[in-house]
Formats: sequence, C-alpha cells, structure tokens
Amino acid sequence: MDALTAIILAAGEGKRMRSRQPKMLHRLCGRPLVAYPLRLARTFADRVVMVVPPSTEGMVQVAGDDVTTVIQRDRLGTGHAVMQAKDGCGQGTILVLPGDMPLLAVETIERLVSHHKTAGAAVTLLTAIVDNPFGYGRVLRQRGRVTRIVEERDATDDQKKISEIGTSVYCFDAQRLWSALAEVRPDNDQGEYYLTDVVAILSRAGARVEAVTVADSSEALGVNDRKQLAAVAAIQRRRILDRLMEGGVTIVDPASTYIEDTVTIGPDTVVAPQTVIEGATEIGSECVIGAGSHVSGSRLADRVVLKPYSILEDAVVEEGASLGPFCHLRPGCHIGAGAEIGNFAELKKSRIGRKTKIHHVSYTGDATVGERVNVGAGTITCNYDGQRKQPTVIGDDAFVGTNSSLVAPITIGEGAYIGSGSVITKDVPPGALALERGPQTVKEGWAARRKAQKRKDD
Ligand code: UD1
Ligand code: CA
Repeated sequence: MDALTAIILAAGEGKRMRSRQPKMLHRLCGRPLVAYPLRLARTFADRVVMVVPPSTEGMVQVAGDDVTTVIQRDRLGTGHAVMQAKDGCGQGTILVLPGDMPLLAVETIERLVSHHKTAGAAVTLLTAIVDNPFGYGRVLRQRGRVTRIVEERDATDDQKKISEIGTSVYCFDAQRLWSALAEVRPDNDQGEYYLTDVVAILSRAGARVEAVTVADSSEALGVNDRKQLAAVAAIQRRRILDRLMEGGVTIVDPASTYIEDTVTIGPDTVVAPQTVIEGATEIGSECVIGAGSHVSGSRLADRVVLKPYSILEDAVVEEGASLGPFCHLRPGCHIGAGAEIGNFAELKKSRIGRKTKIHHVSYTGDATVGERVNVGAGTITCNYDGQRKQPTVIGDDAFVGTNSSLVAPITIGEGAYIGSGSVITKDVPPGALALERGPQTVKEGWAARRKAQKRKDD
C-alpha cells in the first residue's frame, strides 16, 4: 500500500470563537476539538503532521509523541498552512483534515481515500450538499467535473446559490500538491493563500480532479463559533448515546443525558434522566445511575447503584456498593464492595471497607474505614486542625454512634464502640467502648411542680 501522510490544519486563529484559548483546545464532549481529527488521522496515516499556532503548549500535549507539529507563524491561510507541513510529509498520498470538523466519520474518509487511489487522482476532495451553504466554499463543476472552489466572500450571487460545498478534507498526490501549492497566490478578498485554489490550478493543468460527497452532510459541520460548537456537540452527544445503547446500555432519556466521549459503560446499566457522566469514567455492567447524578473521572465496578443526585469526582467504587441519594464523593475516595453510603454523606480522600455503612448526614475526610463498620448519622471526622489535614483510622466492625465527632489524628480500634454524641479526642483500643458526654440528670415529677409554681405566682 502507498504511504499516507495526514496533515491536520489547526493553526487558525479561531477569531469567531472570541476566546483567549485556541479554538482547537475548546472541548467537545470531553475532548479537545483537535483530538477528533487526530484520532481519525491515526486510523489512516503512516505519519501525522499537525500545523499549530505559535503559542502551542496545549496543542503539542494533545498531539502526543507520534505526531509531528509544525508552527505556522504568520497565519496566511489554509494553503500557507499546508506549505508549512511539507518537510514533515512523505511521498504518496496526503490526506488533509481541518482541525475544526469533529463529526467526520471513519467510513467517509475510508471512501475518500479508496476512491482517490482507485481513480489515481491528483486530488480528491470531500464535498457536502447542505441546506445552508453560507460561509462555506462553493464547489464549481463543468460537465460534472469539479473545476474550482470559490469562497463565500469571493463568490458571485449565482455562485452563492450552489449548495455543494468544499469540506476542507482532501486527498492529494503529494507531488501534484506541492507543485500546485507553489502557484497559489493570495489574490482574494482576504489576501490569504487558499488551499482551495489548488483545485483550480490542478484542474487547469488537466490533472485528474475527483470528488466524493458525504452521505450525511452533518459530518461536514465545522466549529467556527460557539453556536456551532453547541450544535456540533449536540450531534456528537447523540452519537455517543447511540453507541452506548447499541452496546446494551439503557439510556432512559437521551435528550437529557450528557455523557462524554471518554466514558465507557457496561451492558444492562441503566442511566436515568438529567445525568452527566464525564472525564475518564468507566462504569461496569448492571449499574444504576440515578436521576440528577454527576459522575466525573470515576471507576464504578458492576452492580453499583447511584441513587438520585449523587455527585462523584475521581472515585473508585467496588462491586455492588450503593450511594446516595444526595451523596458527594469529593476526589480520592475508594468505596469497598457492598458498602452503603447514604443521604447527605460527604466523603473526601477516604477509603471505605467492604459492607461498611455510612448512611446519613455525615462528613468523612482523610479517613481509612475498615469493613462492616457502622457510622451513625451526623458523624464528623474533624480532619482539619486549622493548619493541617489529619487522618482518621477506624478498624473493622467498629460502631460509631450518631452525632460523634472524631477529632483527628485518631484511631478507633477494631470492634470498638463509640457512644452517641461523643467528642473523641483520644485513640480507642480495639473492643472498647468510648463515651464522652455529661451524665444525664432525671428529675421525676418536675413538670407538674413547675406548673404548680406558676399557678401560685399568678
Ligand atoms: C475553509 C475553506 C472552505 C470550506 C471550509 C469548510 C479555505 C480557503 N476555505 O473555510 O472552502 O468550505 O473550510 O469548513 O480553505 N487554518 C490554519 N492556518 C491558517 C488558516 C486556517 O491552520 O492560516 C486551519 C484552521 O485552524 C481550520 C482550517 O484551517 O482548522 C480551516 O480554516 P478556517 O479559517 O476555519 O476556514 P473556513 O473559513 O472554515
Ligand atoms: Ca472552518
């Protein structure tokens, strides 16, 4: 097979985004925009060259080591951008992908590349027929053959009526590309070197110009401003949900479910409405993600149940544990198998053992809690002494009575009991009962005596 180099055009200023951040780093369903063409390029190309803007740190990071990045210092247009990539390219075929067209499907590029090779074309461009071609380059044809692409701002009124647009995706024969690019002049409304002009140059030279039209024109939607970012994200989001549903996940209401591209979910998991699942999240099989839950960067094993409105950040939850409703796992929690974390429980950087129960209104921070522990309602680990975070350790089978304050650093031994309402400041040995509260006073008949006294005073 012929060698194939992919060039990703990602140096545009993205002015229409009105952002301090480069357009290509804006996120679409959990990935930077440019990650989409990168993924596509990697599936086809022997080498990938990405043209990036001068301030590149973030871009180079996203690109990874297998991608050659070249800086386009003066942004003089798409043709100029491709010229910058020349030294990084090989012979054979050059696939050009715009950085801002994340919906392109693998099958479409496959069709483009194979058509290009079979036809032995100098260039094969990917076109789309769209309802509203405004802003795109229009494809001009003569007797069916593409002769030229004219940009919106350079088009005549008649040309503007053409609904076939250039997508900025091309396959080129490398030699033909470089010789034609050398002839491109910035003689257009923007004074830029347009890559689109290569098409006319090759056509005039009698070279073979081919075109493949995308079946689903939404693939050609570009992201130039924030409205398009949202519109494209809506389509991408739906694709993600379709992929998950095809894999056996129940999405009760796709219209109100937001799952990022980076998420994996096992079969027979049910995702309720109004949920957000994002980042590097892995969810197992037969789980339930309750309504209103927000899960980010977390790993849930099989059969985990999140009751409604549970918030998880960077958590690991083992098999069969149940959380919520209304619980909040802040970063760094590990919940053991079969554990039960209930209403209004906030946990941070804590390890909770198997089958431990922390059912109601509580705060557990910087704690290591053993197995089968019962933590009563209202229990607080006082983990902050005003200067540092301090650890709490609770042994297996311990029982912490309701409304206890565990003042860290503190260790509660295995099987120990803490009486309700205690403020525990000293370590409790295994098997002991620790109790810290004033003795209860009972005055029999006190209420009647008080009433009698009041009657007398009146
Ligand atoms: C471009 C095409 C237009 C096509 C449309 C499809 C040209 C002249 N126009 O227009 O025919 O219909 O895409 O979406 O090619 N870029 C650089 N360096 C530059 C300029 C752009 O790297 O100097 C990159 C951008 O980051 C972007 C891509 O090239 O990824 C396209 O540039 P953009 O300015 O978005 O072109 P469009 O106006 O969309
Ligand atoms: Ca564009």
